[in-house]
Order: sequence, then C-alpha cells, then structure tokens
Amino acid sequence: MSGELRLTVLGAGYLGITHAAGMASLGFDVLGVDTDAARVDQLNAGHLPIYEPGLEELLRAGLGAGRVRFTTSYPEAAAFGDVHFICTGTPQQLGGNRADLSQVHACVAALAPLLDRPCLVVGKSTVPVGTARRLAAELSQACPGAELAWNPEFLREGNAVADTLAPDRIVVGVTSGRAEQVLRQLYARPLAGGAAFIATSLETAELAKAAANAFLATKISFINAMAEICETAGGDVRDLAQILGADPRIGPAFLRAGLGYGGGCLPKDIRAFVARAEQLGAGASLAFLREVDAINLRRRARTADLTLELAGGNLTGVPVCVLGAAFKPGSDDVRDSPALDVAQILTGMGARVTVYDPAALDNARRARPELSYAPTLAAAAQGAHVVLLLTEWPEFTALTPDRLGGIVARRNMIDARNALDPVPWREAGWEYRALGVAEDTAARARLDASP
Ligand code: UDX
Repeated sequence: MSGELRLTVLGAGYLGITHAAGMASLGFDVLGVDTDAARVDQLNAGHLPIYEPGLEELLRAGLGAGRVRFTTSYPEAAAFGDVHFICTGTPQQLGGNRADLSQVHACVAALAPLLDRPCLVVGKSTVPVGTARRLAAELSQACPGAELAWNPEFLREGNAVADTLAPDRIVVGVTSGRAEQVLRQLYARPLAGGAAFIATSLETAELAKAAANAFLATKISFINAMAEICETAGGDVRDLAQILGADPRIGPAFLRAGLGYGGGCLPKDIRAFVARAEQLGAGASLAFLREVDAINLRRRARTADLTLELAGGNLTGVPVCVLGAAFKPGSDDVRDSPALDVAQILTGMGARVTVYDPAALDNARRARPELSYAPTLAAAAQGAHVVLLLTEWPEFTALTPDRLGGIVARRNMIDARNALDPVPWREAGWEYRALGVAEDTAARARLDASP
C-alpha cells in the first residue's frame, strides 16, 4: 500500500459525511458508502441532510473536484479503497444503557468478505473498549492482509469542519508501525499544522474518546452541582465559574452552568462507558458518572419547577414560550435535547407550551410531534406569561427586554443558559431568573442596579 491512497468512508451519518468531505478536501479520493439510497442520491447532488455550518460548501467542493462521491455498493467500496473508515453511529441501546453496535458490526460483516488485498480498516465510531480487538480478529480471519486501527473522532457539532481539518490531536490505536505510517500519511496536513499525534494501543484509543467525553460531562455537571449549592446557599454560579476558570489548572472551558448537556454524544457515551465498566467488573471506578448523569437531568426538573414558581404555583393553561429546541446553538440536532425535555415536562404540568428554534424545528416536530411549535420567535412569545431561554442561539441572546416585552403578556424570563445580562432585564421590569443564582442574590443584584 503506497502512493496515492484511496479512501472509503462507511456510514454517511454526521461523522461519515464530515470525514468524507474533510478527507477529500485534504486531497484524497474518497468513496462514501451508505445503505440509504435516498441519502446517497442527496449527497451526490450536493445536499446536506444535516445542519452544519460550512459542511455543504466543503462537500460541494469535493464533488466538484471529483474527489468524493457516494454509493450504496460494498463491492465497489472493497475494490476502491486502500483505507476503509468505519464511521457508523453507535446510539444508546433501546431500553438499556449500552451502546448499540449493530451498525458497526453490519458494516464490518458487509465489507470483510469482499476484501482481497492488503488494506487498513480504521474505526472512527465511538465504541466500548474491547470492540476493536474483536473486530481485528474478525477482519484478519476474513482477509489476512486486512489490518485494523482505531482513530477516535473528537469533533463537535457546529464546529465539525474546523475540528476535522485542524484537529488539536490525532489519536491512533495501532498494532503495527505500518498502520501508524499510513495514518501519519493521511493526516500529514493537519500534522504539519500543529496537531498532536499520539500512537497507542487499540484499547487506549477506544478509551480516549470515552474518557474525554466523561471528563467534559463531569466538568459541566460539577459546575451545575455548584449551581444547586448556590441556589440554596445564596451564591451566584456565574461569578463562581469565573473565579474557578481563572485558575489555569482548571480553565474556563465547559464551566457554563445552566440546563446541562445533551446531544447525540455526551449523554449516551457516558452511560455506555459506565455499562462497559460494569461488564468488565470495574463498575466502582465509574460509579461517579451515574451522579454526573443525575445532576445533569436534575437541571431539567429544576427549570420546570422555576417556571411553576414564576407562574404563581399553577401552570394549567398558562402560555409558556420555549426558546430553543436544539441541544446546543449552531446545530439542528435534537437528540437528548434538554430544551425539548423541559418543554415536554411543562406540557405534562398543564402549561400551553410553544417552542421556537431557528434551525431545529423540523427535527423537533419529527421527534416530539405532540408539542406545539411556532415558525417565528414573535409568534412563539405572543401572549406568553413565562419565557424560557433554553438554547443560547445568537437570535435569543441578542433579544432586548423592551422588544420582547412588547410581545409577551407577562414579563417573566427564565434564562436557563445564563446567556443574558440580568441588569437591563430587571430594569425593564422583568422578573428575571437564572439557574444557579439564588433568588435573594437576584434581589440584591436588583437593588445594586437601581440608582
Ligand atoms: C461533544 C464533544 O465536545 C466532542 O469532542 C465529541 O466528539 C462529541 O461530543 P458535541 O456533542 O457536539 O461534542 O457538543 P459540545 O459542544 O461538547 O456540548 C455538549 C453539551 O454540553 C451541549 O448541550 C452544551 O449546551 C452543553 N454545555 C457545554 C454546557 O452545558 N456547558 C458548557 O460549559 C459546555
């Protein structure tokens, strides 16, 4: 295997599309493979089935240059590729906490029997530790010249293009120097740009992703636990986060207190990590991640309680405006969305909830058809008694108290992402409440703000 390497990317989900378009823009010929023919057609026509800033342009550039195309054919992929990337999803199992590996297994089962020359198969999907070692045995049995490596992907939704083209680190789990060399060749450009390269065992590479996500989730839940303490002890978590973050040993990233984490990665990866540790008899080591999960989910319940409080103790028939459906701004992903969960809880408490989101309305409608949606912010806020800011889109953080005040029926704002400056809202007569700020602290701030 030498010269110009040709790549296949198996699975055209979020990860697969980004990786295929990214590797094409790094100068490789890429064949994307997915079993969904409609999706393949859509991608070949240059249309992105997901919302990701800059990705459609990158895809179109690759298609235009003849560097990337998509197919449903595994035989075509086996014939084409020197390196095959596994980029299929590993969602949470229905009714359990483990990762559902069926797509990864289906992809290897489809490819392995077709391989008839030396090649490298590189896993990028997030899998429980031990998976790669098993897949490596399966592969080499089917084709002695086929080798497996693991190369976890750390990209963030909304930042996927930059994270792919200029990652901060490239982790490769390998069993030979040859595999490491191939991966160095593939990532030569980001490496020249300063990305760190860490070659390690298959197991460490698998663990790298799980551990990174566990750490990020723990950091968020840590500050949200502090938010709970602030609410009862009279503190202000925003100041606390600033103080902690000023210590370079802690750092300010991922200390934004609020409604907590959601999305297609952190929640399910943390649960799968715990489930895998228990399977390995090491459950005690990760027992704290159960608490991380519990703290995260408690923020949703707390936001609903705060709404009940602002509505005067009864939500029956109360018009409530929910700003945000995506799990974070810059994404249309509503998987495990804290915002939609809160909307659902409030609906269950009798409120008349209307949800608005600038990008995720279609996905939200599909995921939770029982909720009510409005096509514009103004329509969602019309006549509301309580407004909840649940996803910090720029359209929401740029809101002014007077503009919104002219639309709602009552000036009650719950800033569940600590995204607004409380002072102008309070000055404009809003009852402004944020997560992690005790009510009497809020009252003090109101006093301080008054001339
Ligand atoms: C995450 C990891 O960051 C990424 O490395 C991995 O590859 C996939 O999972 P992503 O799911 O795109 O990426 O979202 P991320 O930006 O990490 O945010 C996750 C959630 O945490 C969001 O719901 C966000 O609103 C929340 N969050 C983030 C906070 O509540 N507070 C913070 O300080 C940071």
